[in-house]
Amino acid sequence: MRVLVTGGTGYIGSTAVEILSKKGFEISILDDCSTGHADSVPTGVRFIQGSLLNKSDIATALHDVDAVMHFAGKSLVGESVEKPDLYHLVNVNGTRNLLDEMKNATVTKIVFSSSAATYGEPDVIPIPESASTNPTNPYGATKLAIDTMISRESQEQGISAASLRYFNVAGALKSDRGWLAERHNPETHLIPNVLRSTHANPVKIFGNDWPTADGTCIRDYVHVIDLIDAHIKALDSLTVGVHEIYNLGSGDGYSVRQVVAAAALAIGYEIPTIDSPRRAGDPAILIADINKAKVHLGWTPTRGINEMVADTLASFA
Ligand SMILES: NC(=O)c1ccc[n+]([C@@H]2O[C@H](COP(=O)([O-])OP(=O)(O)OC[C@H]3O[C@@H](n4cnc5c(N)ncnc54)[C@H](O)[C@@H]3O)[C@@H](O)[C@H]2O)c1
Repeated sequence: MRVLVTGGTGYIGSTAVEILSKKGFEISILDDCSTGHADSVPTGVRFIQGSLLNKSDIATALHDVDAVMHFAGKSLVGESVEKPDLYHLVNVNGTRNLLDEMKNATVTKIVFSSSAATYGEPDVIPIPESASTNPTNPYGATKLAIDTMISRESQEQGISAASLRYFNVAGALKSDRGWLAERHNPETHLIPNVLRSTHANPVKIFGNDWPTADGTCIRDYVHVIDLIDAHIKALDSLTVGVHEIYNLGSGDGYSVRQVVAAAALAIGYEIPTIDSPRRAGDPAILIADINKAKVHLGWTPTRGINEMVADTLASFA
């Protein structure tokens, strides 16, 4: 099968390119490298350095393609609060362009990177796909707008679609070209930041008085390799005219202090931390209900927090 991977030079997209290529998929990448890295592209893979905001770049990238995995976009919550228009432009308008060009090219299958940020403050834990969606930041609002747009597109145009709502993606994959890992700038994700923590620049713990056992927030982490496995299963299970939504996490939660402890174990010394005030809009606990992905896709994540930490640490070497 020939798959267009948008955002294929980013953290998760480059991991998808590597795994799909090894499994014999023919890959095209569309990425403007605004937060991605062209050096992650394997030799022999078709790479269009272009934007979702340029319809002719998308049309070129869609040439001879059977399906799209759509990872490209802006994904920093804090930045989205400062620049909501940019997030709407790239994420929502960019995806509109992609769907329009898919129609022109008669490409009818899409698997989209949605987010747990669509749910906002959860009213039930673990969070099922049926939970109410009240995003608390512009980033989550763009992901929800795209999910809604894809639902309409599948009803009206008959496309086959899946939105995968990731919780916290972590870990890394070793390739012939070195480790494919998080290279975000700024890095906002906990595991790389904990592993880079120093006495001069200790990792911040936002709030130590949450209603959890150790007072720190609890989040659900999923290894990037397990996540891509779910994408392949979702692609296999697409149905004409149907848009399915699946949560992807581990179904388990880890507090910030538990992640720090796992990192300390891996790195062999105590991680410097500093207690900081709570951040506005941070829910205390976010854990995915992953039963739908388990039952419909036959997907079970197999890599735990220690492997995510160990792979991230190995990727620093
Ligand atoms: N990392 C996570 O924990 C997480 C959680 C939930 C959802 N997601 C979603 O997964 C996807 C991938 O996330 P990531 O962590 O790999 O981020 P990333 O920033 O590493 O990757 C995004 C890629 O999209 C590309 N891109 C941005 N704007 C573009 C444009 N206009 N045209 C073409 N390419 C463009 C970037 O250059 C980059 O390579 C994103 O859609 C993100 O919202 C990630």
